[in-house]
Amino acid sequence: MDLDGSEQDPEMKEYSSVCVGREVDMKKSERMTAVVHDREVVIFYHKGEYHAMDIRCYHSGGPLHLGEIEDFDGRPCIVCPWHKYKITLATGEGLYQSIDPKDPSAKPKWCSKGIKQRIHKVTVDNGNIYVTLSTESFKCDSDFYATGDFKVIKFSS
Ligand code: FES
Repeated sequence: MDLDGSEQDPEMKEYSSVCVGREVDMKKSERMTAVVHDREVVIFYHKGEYHAMDIRCYHSGGPLHLGEIEDFDGRPCIVCPWHKYKITLATGEGLYQSIDPKDPSAKPKWCSKGIKQRIHKVTVDNGNIYVTLSTESFKCDSDFYATGDFKVIKFSS
């Protein structure tokens, strides 16, 4: 219990933004990896927008920086190279296709499993790119591979 009577989650931290690179380089490479406050992230530049997320896929820790970006249901997604899970760049939702078993002739529909991959904030200032880690308190599946025993930090990009 804190002095003010509230309890704080020891895992909750305040994070400052970290400069990860130059906009001019990112616009050429369209993706990069970075370690931000001991958390490995991938940053994508796609169709004029920046997106950052945990680098290891929420499913089984696959390397998202090696995946392809494709649109599904009009939403740009990173496709994990290991088992082809689709994750929206903007929100970190896992997408899947479903079909009504009672109506096999129906066209499969894209559905969301909800937010599975933690998304971080990207800002650009004076030609530099900054990442601010998400401090949203909900448990996100990708946290499993971004923290604790399963965290793997690779310092190469
Ligand atoms: Fe990414 Fe399985 S590890 S889809």
